[in-house]
Amino acid sequence: ATDIDTESMHEHVVVRRGARSGLPIVVAVHSTALGQAIGGCRLAHYPHWRDGLDDALRLSAAMSDKCALAGLPNGGGKSVVALPLGMTLDGASRRAALHDVGDVIAGLTGTYATGPDVGTGPDDMVTIAERTPYAFCRPVGAGGSGDSSEHTAVGVLAALHALCAERFGSSDLSTRSFAVLGLGRVGGHVLRMLADARATLVASDVDDSRRTLAGAAGAAWASPRDCLTADVDVLVPAALGGLLTLHTVPKLRCAAIAGPANNQLDTPATADLLHQRGILWAPDIIVSAGGIIHATAVELHDETSAQATVRVHGIADTLTDILRTARATGSTPADAARSHARQRIRSGHH
Ligand code: PHE
Repeated sequence: ATDIDTESMHEHVVVRRGARSGLPIVVAVHSTALGQAIGGCRLAHYPHWRDGLDDALRLSAAMSDKCALAGLPNGGGKSVVALPLGMTLDGASRRAALHDVGDVIAGLTGTYATGPDVGTGPDDMVTIAERTPYAFCRPVGAGGSGDSSEHTAVGVLAALHALCAERFGSSDLSTRSFAVLGLGRVGGHVLRMLADARATLVASDVDDSRRTLAGAAGAAWASPRDCLTADVDVLVPAALGGLLTLHTVPKLRCAAIAGPANNQLDTPATADLLHQRGILWAPDIIVSAGGIIHATAVELHDETSAQATVRVHGIADTLTDILRTARATGSTPADAARSHARQRIRSGHH
C-alpha cells in the first residue's frame, strides 16, 4: 500500500457557499499536532473559487511550519473569502461575508482561530468575533491585542538585521539599499522603519496612491516590475506571494531577499535557483511570524506587549540559526527551515 503523506494532507478543510453572502468561504485546518491551528483570514480576488481553495491549502500548510519555527504551541490554518474578479464589497456585504467566516470557524469548535491577513484588519476581527470567540487582533479597546501589522514589521526588521549580518558581514542597515515591494499595512511600516534606520530605499505598490507614503520615507518610486529587479542589496517582498519564479529569479539583481509576503516561492524548486544564483533567501515562514508571535503571546499567554516584542525580536536568532545550518550542510535556507519545522511538528515539541 502507498502511504498517505500525512504532512502534506490537511486535517480538515471546509468549503462553503456563505449562507449570508453567497460567497465562497474556505477554512483550511492543516495541522493541530502542536495545538490549536492559527492563521489569518484573507479576503481577496480569485479568478475562480478553486484558486482561493488552492491558496488556503498552501497558506495553511505554511502556517504550520511558521508556528513550529516560531516555537509556538500552535498548528497552521487559514481562511479565504474568494471574491470573484472585479467584485467590491460594501459595508453590509462585507459583514455578511465575515459572519459566514465566523460561522464556519464556530463549527470547528476551537480547533482553529483566525486573525488579520491580506484584505482584513482588526475591525473585521470584531465582526468575525460576533459569531465565534476565535479571532485574534481585535482592537485593544475591543479586548484584543490590536493591529498585528506593526509587530510583523518589527519581526521583518529583526530578520533584515540578521540577514545583512550573514550576507554582508554587518547588521548596519544604513549602508545598505532595499527595494520594498508592496506598501500595504505591513510593507508601509517596514518602509518607515527602514527609513528610520537611514537605509537607501526604493519602493513600489500596485496602488499608485501609496506613492506619497514612499515619498514621506524618502524612498524612490518604481513600478512593481522595476522594483522587483532593482539593483539593490536586499529585496523585501511585502505584497502577495508567488513572485519568485523560474522566470523572475534570473532577472533579479539583489544579493539577498527577506520580506513578510507569505509563500514567496511559486514552487519549492525556485529555492534551488536562488541558491545557484548566490541570492540568500530568508524563508518567509520565519520572517513574517512577528504578528502571530505578538498576538498569541498577549492574547493566549497573558504577556505584556513589551514582553511579546522581545519574542518577536527572537526572529533574528531563529533566522541566523537556519541560515548557518543551511550553509553548514550545503542545503538551501528553504530546506533547512522546512526540515527544522517538520522535526518539531513530528516530535510534538514547540
Ligand atoms: N496573517 C498572519 C500571518 O500570515 C496571521 C495572524 C494570525 C496574524 C493571528 C496575527 C494573529 O502570519
